[in-house]
Amino acid sequence: MWTNDLSVDNVMIDNEHKQLFMLIDNFYKGIKENSPKERLEELILGLFNYTKTHFKNEEQHMRNMNYPDLEVHKSLHASFVDQVNNYYDRLKGGKLILSIEVTNFLKDWLINHIKGSDQQYAAFERTQKSMMNIN
Ligand code: FEO
Repeated sequence: MWTNDLSVDNVMIDNEHKQLFMLIDNFYKGIKENSPKERLEELILGLFNYTKTHFKNEEQHMRNMNYPDLEVHKSLHASFVDQVNNYYDRLKGGKLILSIEVTNFLKDWLINHIKGSDQQYAAFERTQKSMMNIN
């Protein structure tokens, strides 16, 4: 669930984060409702694709503000994409049973990432903006 304290003061990025939470929630519901494997695959694929879109947009946003920790942030994104990809491959290969634990991993990662790393670039941007207002 997205809450105001997760805001990075950018409407586009905040909306993308909200969408990510919604996709994770749909996935969670899919598991709870014992949806067929094909439906769960579809849901995780949707989450995977939207996550990649969001990361691309967010990385461009950080590039635009000359964020100094862009490369570190990009590597965090890349490892999350790898993890989700790994889940998807194992699921397709019948080696992963999707569970609440998997969903919790996705949700916890996202919340911690937005509260931690995303808030760091938001703080950097706020400082940049306030310096521009002073000068
Ligand atoms: Fe919003 Fe760095 O993910």
